[in-house]
Amino acid sequence: LITDITLRRILDSRGNATVEAEVTTEDGGFGRGAAPSGASTGEHEALELPAEEAIEKAEADAVPALVGEVDATDQRAIDDTLHEVDGTDDFSGIGANSAVAISMAAAKAGADELGLPLFQHLGGTFRGDQFPTPLGNVVGGGEHAEEATNIQEFLSAPVGAPSVTEAVFANAQVHARIGELLEEKGVPANKGDEGAWAPPIGDDEAFEIVDQATTEVSDDLGFEISFGLDMAAAEMYEDGEYVYEGEANRSTAEQIDYVAEMVDEYDMAYVEDPLDENDFEAFAELTDRVGDRTLICGDDLYVTNVERLQDGIDKGSSNSILIKPNQIGTLSDAVDAIELGAENGIVSAVSHRSGETEDTTIAHLAVGAAAPYIKTGTVAGERTAKLNELIRIEEQV
Ligand code: PGA
Ligand code: ZN
Repeated sequence: LITDITLRRILDSRGNATVEAEVTTEDGGFGRGAAPSGASTGEHEALELPAEEAIEKAEADAVPALVGEVDATDQRAIDDTLHEVDGTDDFSGIGANSAVAISMAAAKAGADELGLPLFQHLGGTFRGDQFPTPLGNVVGGGEHAEEATNIQEFLSAPVGAPSVTEAVFANAQVHARIGELLEEKGVPANKGDEGAWAPPIGDDEAFEIVDQATTEVSDDLGFEISFGLDMAAAEMYEDGEYVYEGEANRSTAEQIDYVAEMVDEYDMAYVEDPLDENDFEAFAELTDRVGDRTLICGDDLYVTNVERLQDGIDKGSSNSILIKPNQIGTLSDAVDAIELGAENGIVSAVSHRSGETEDTTIAHLAVGAAAPYIKTGTVAGERTAKLNELIRIEEQV
């Protein structure tokens, strides 16, 4: 049984307050989890409350319903209880930040009580013939940096790496090489929220630099390194058009053409949120055109919600989904989205948020649920916390 839950305010990587939870069990199990926070959040995400308010609400409603009542090893019961006491569709009762922090802390306490690594506790019997390929944010702008690219993230994708460890180091090498290329060009090497370069250049130039760096590092290491994008296009979408600063705006048809052309020109492995978060039909058109050779991933489109994912499956909107536990509020909901995807040929990428902490739960979730990809940055400390955990897990298995 859970015997104690403590909630507190801690810092996230942007210096904002976020919720940390600690769960203790009667058999001496202990777990700690902290909520991340997005900047380019989807319109349909579960709702984060100000940290102080989320803590107050969860202390009043969630803590008494869990302490002395629920077993920390029963993740479904914990997450069902969080939904029950919250009583809303979007966790606006106790805050998705309190919910996800408690869900993750309880999972760790449950794993600790069972004497299992977290990935094994989350995955049941480990399905691990597959480790996730890390997608590494190396250049970006959008909502994550001022005066930088329109496209939010350019992602190194070491799809041919023989191990997670080699993939993690490959992404770091691509990041470093891009830093050198920017210096050679005399472009200020600013950084965005996640530690990716955020230089004041246009998207065209960023494509060229990322293509050059991934090609060079691939040649050096002897395995394939592709790249991809998170366009976060909902943030660009205004009055029926995609707004590009320094370029002409694009209509939906032009946006589809543009993305399809870039997929072919650069042989990209992955494109996230290329279209508006409510345009399931335009997503389907693009997936129809290029889905045989690249992953079209829905992040703001699905917000890790199985109902929205089912809609996308019915309409053929994408062949990939981004999984962010805090978008939906609990680990059980996140696993449900991964499983519904897997049953329908939809490739999951488990993801961090732009505002993060040193919490490493998503590394365990990606391995435990056998997600083919994980997106958790490249070099900043709150990102390397997860990447280094992946390296440790790989050694354990
Ligand atoms: P966010 O961005 O965490 O700021 O929402 C990450 C993403 O869009 O994937
Ligand atoms: Zn995204």
